[in-house]
Amino acid sequence: MSKKSEFVVVANRLPVDRVTDGDGEASWRRSPGGLVTAIVPVMQRRQGAWVGWPGSPDEDVEPFEAEGLSLIPVRLSARDVEYYYEGFSNATLWPLYHDVIAQPVYRRSLWEVYERVNRRFARAAAEVAAEGAIVWVQDYQLQLVPQMLRELRPDLRIGFFLHIPFPPMELFQQLPWRRDILYGLLGADLVGFQSRDAASNFVRLCRRFCDLRTQGHEVMVADRTVRADHFPISVDANELITLAADPKVQNRAAQIREDLGNPASVLLGVDRLDYTKGIQQRLEAFIELFEDERLKSGDAVFVQVATPSRERVKEYRILRDEIELQVGRANGLYAELGAPIINYMHTSYTREELAALYLAADVMVVTPLRDGMNLVAKEYVACRSDLRGALLLSEFAGAAQELHRAFLVNPYDIGGTKNRMWEAMHASPAERARRMRSMRRRVIEHDVDLWAKSFLDALENGRSGTAGASGR
Ligand code: ADP
Ligand code: F6P
Repeated sequence: MSKKSEFVVVANRLPVDRVTDGDGEASWRRSPGGLVTAIVPVMQRRQGAWVGWPGSPDEDVEPFEAEGLSLIPVRLSARDVEYYYEGFSNATLWPLYHDVIAQPVYRRSLWEVYERVNRRFARAAAEVAAEGAIVWVQDYQLQLVPQMLRELRPDLRIGFFLHIPFPPMELFQQLPWRRDILYGLLGADLVGFQSRDAASNFVRLCRRFCDLRTQGHEVMVADRTVRADHFPISVDANELITLAADPKVQNRAAQIREDLGNPASVLLGVDRLDYTKGIQQRLEAFIELFEDERLKSGDAVFVQVATPSRERVKEYRILRDEIELQVGRANGLYAELGAPIINYMHTSYTREELAALYLAADVMVVTPLRDGMNLVAKEYVACRSDLRGALLLSEFAGAAQELHRAFLVNPYDIGGTKNRMWEAMHASPAERARRMRSMRRRVIEHDVDLWAKSFLDALENGRSGTAGASGR
């Protein structure tokens, strides 16, 4: 009989993807995104199992060990990937939960596969969990798993955490399967969200669409009480501080600045290439500073790193083309020979290279149109022990609830963003230091360990989970 675990994480992806190099040699590399960045360090400190998809279709992989974790692969066929992952998860739920920035697709065939795949994940978790184990289900791809798992294994203590926003009633009610999703989540003992608003939206929706009795953070379901609370996620601040203090990383940062021609200001964006991230809006604001002749080539360089993401979903392909057109046009108009105003990299970097980029950047530009949290903003702050950087941050990122001393912007307001960007570029060293010091205090005290501990304490003890929450 296979080994059972006392602690199980269930997530759409395993924390590693299989990559094959030019010589056909296969290896595992950490998969992208905030969820993995946040949970891998927590899991490494507990002896647990991680149930997830290995990242490519039609792949049969036996359970294996990587990154110090015990990994249990769930197989997805090409059709599952198309209907469950690209379809219901990323063409229906993702846009619906992010303010309908793109139009959600509502198709029954996508829903059916979403349900079927969620059941597969629930079965895999039921199989690996020891009697009375803690099972922590992650994110919007697996919202039906808590209830399915409870039916299979009523002995388990089940937690669910949503990494992305949870929409208000006016948007959520569009979803033809709204009750199924709510009841799926209600299978958990504790449902965690990034923000207080998201947790309240959920409780209100349970009252309205499931006719359930609610009291404060609690929803009464038959003989159980389900708690909904907010637990703002964070980063491994110590790991980043150590990384940023490494002389190799610091030398690399100096090299990056030199390679960019040592401009007065280096601005940086680091994102998955996603339409929720506001990449076009931030570049537009930057380009307008050249149009207005407030900047000229050599004064400032924008480095935009965009990790390829969900490339088979139509909206993502369109976005990539639009950004590449925008960058090409701007450089065509304002760059000088060998000195582009925007350096655009459509690739993924190592943690060391990212830390070097953070150190090289005078202004970190994080302007999502909507984001559950945004870990990049917190990573930048954690890395800047020198107190010299400035953070330009969207009001619509969860991180803005905590990083009040960032240069806050409404990314839909290009004129306002442009002026704030200029202000951040020209802030005095004393002002930057004041702002950065306050933000660092928050990120260092409320790190990913506190987030996980708050959630898991609340799950294990049925206690309130606001220890890691915003001080508001
Ligand atoms: P999301 O979860 O929507 O992708 P977050 O900002 O919360 O957004 O998390 C993104 C995570 O992925 C961060 O830890 C960030 O460092 C990492 N990341 C983003 N872009 C890159 C990149 N180009 N190379 C390597 N890691 C990246
Ligand atoms: O945080 C949102 C999220 O969708 C995570 O669930 C996921 O790990 C990350 O972004 C990357 O997305 P994907 O797995 O679709 O590449």
